Amino acid sequence: MLYRHLFAAAAGLVGISAAQVTTDCNPMERDDCKPDPALGTAETWDFSTTPNGQLWETTAGMVQYEKDTGARFSVAKQGDSPTIRTKFYFFFGRIEFFLKAAPGIGIISSMMLLSDNLDEIDWEFLGANHTHASTNIFGKGIEDFTNGGYHTMPDGKAPQEEYHNYTTIWTKEKMDFYINGLLARTITAEESTTEVNGTTVDIYPQTPMRMSLGIWAGGDPRLPEGTRKWAGGDTNYEAGPYDMFVKSARVEDYSTGKEYVWGDRSGDWESIEIVG
Ligand SMILES: *[C@@H]1O[C@H](CO)[C@@H](O)[C@H](O)[C@H]1NC(C)=O
Ligand SMILES: *[C@@H]1O[C@H](CO)[C@@H](O)[C@H](O)[C@H]1NC(C)=O
Ligand SMILES: *[C@@H]1O[C@H](CO)[C@@H](O)[C@H](O)[C@H]1NC(C)=O
Repeated sequence: MLYRHLFAAAAGLVGISAAQVTTDCNPMERDDCKPDPALGTAETWDFSTTPNGQLWETTAGMVQYEKDTGARFSVAKQGDSPTIRTKFYFFFGRIEFFLKAAPGIGIISSMMLLSDNLDEIDWEFLGANHTHASTNIFGKGIEDFTNGGYHTMPDGKAPQEEYHNYTTIWTKEKMDFYINGLLARTITAEESTTEVNGTTVDIYPQTPMRMSLGIWAGGDPRLPEGTRKWAGGDTNYEAGPYDMFVKSARVEDYSTGKEYVWGDRSGDWESIEIVG
């Protein structure tokens, strides 16, 4: 799966903002990128109310915070892609969210972790797939689409039917993906390489991340056939709106700094300086 990549390609075509899946300053290309403000601790957000604006921002559309269901992300018409993102970064950590995916052909519910040099960790839920959740990683923005994984729902309940606890434990050695406490997948740093122009490149995500939660229509009829196919088919807006709900999220930053400073252009975790 390839959320950010397809989303960016779709942006111009259906009027969604690509800003949320790109980077303002790529530290592998420039030396003047600002340090990343750190969470530096563990915190839980209950989305029955609007989260602290110093820690979260809305990057597209409008998200409703509701007492019983939590944050509601709705696709009601073409171009809708409500998304929220943390303003802070974390440098390895434990990321947990309780999500009920949106139903609907071609509707993609997602949680994405993205760093300034486009390391990426994804959870994605296809509206028409009631049996599987999926995960993926990318490193350094390299377009290697071979790392996607599909995971059977361990309790037999569809992602669209119930809230599930999706947890990722991300260290410099490996990451574990859990659904309701059951291990669905492990990706090790050691195995995460790809070939670029005959050179082996480390694509294990290893730089400070922000978390975003959002929804969009990969099945929009204006998108290329390949995208719509990946998304599970063509979205019928008449049958919407399609709602994704996130009850809560928790991030535990495994580093305890005030900010994370990019030391060189390598994109290696060793180059990140923890300040404060
Ligand atoms: C859901 O995803 C799994 C894994 O890719 C696939 O085998 C299954 O056919 C999909 N179901 C539907 C309804 O598309
Ligand atoms: C969610 O799952 C993780 C991983 O198994 C677990 O550590 C955590 O306690 C669970 N969260 C809640 C609130 O039950
Ligand atoms: C790989 O080679 C192509 C063609 O020469 C070049 O455009 C591209 O920038 C190279 N990629 C990297 C990561 O060096």
